[in-house]
Amino acid sequence: MSYIKLPIMEETGYIVLDSYDQSQDPQEWLDLTYVDWKSSGDTRFAPLASAYGDMECNGFWNHTPPKTDKDGVWVPANTDVAPRLKARAEEPGANIGRCRVIELKPNTYSDCIYNLHIDDNNRLNPEGTGWIVRGFFNLTDNPDSVMILREDRDDPTTETRIPLPAGTQVIIDTQRLWHAVWHPGPELRYCLITSWTSGPELQSYIDARNPRAKIANAPLEQSVIDDAAAEVARRRAERAARLAEQGKVHVDAMSEA
Ligand SMILES: [Fe+2]
Repeated sequence: MSYIKLPIMEETGYIVLDSYDQSQDPQEWLDLTYVDWKSSGDTRFAPLASAYGDMECNGFWNHTPPKTDKDGVWVPANTDVAPRLKARAEEPGANIGRCRVIELKPNTYSDCIYNLHIDDNNRLNPEGTGWIVRGFFNLTDNPDSVMILREDRDDPTTETRIPLPAGTQVIIDTQRLWHAVWHPGPELRYCLITSWTSGPELQSYIDARNPRAKIANAPLEQSVIDDAAAEVARRRAERAARLAEQGKVHVDAMSEA
């Protein structure tokens, strides 16, 4: 038995949809309550839906009782001030798990490559049901920032860079693709992230929005890519040495976004 997946996402693991007219909506994300979560100091999250409706962002599988990333419970203090964001998460009609706004401080390409991670969306998800993917709706206008996706974390030739002007809508299998955002700044970036269950509802939503499973990368100098690879190798070695000193086994960083 396997999971129900959307064939349109099989080729690349991501889908770019037509852009949303973000300018028609109020900037609700500025009124949300943000909580520190696995804080590296670079990100904060405002939960719209959490495991049991509390103001927290832990994976649903880390609760009692644990559950998979489905059937999120709205967090009233945030949904009350962000009805449009809630409505956009609900628009596909697919089951919603975690739903939150991420606030991201400026970073570098090297930071981003170091931060590449895959999500754990489908832990405890029963086979035979819908595979959980995540929607990223960029709220602020960040045309010089990019969502970086890699099929292979350490192979830059597998990299996709999706520009993030306001209204960008991307759906990503974040358990398959390594991902992180390179955000040169200088302002904070905000993005609505929603876990959706794959199925006919999500398929219809995608089909109605001119889905593209592959986009051309804007050019990036090879020297930037090479420098980042060297920097990331150095940081990983430092981290491994630090952990070894503490008698801990090296485990690569894995953050949730
Ligand atoms: Fe993530």
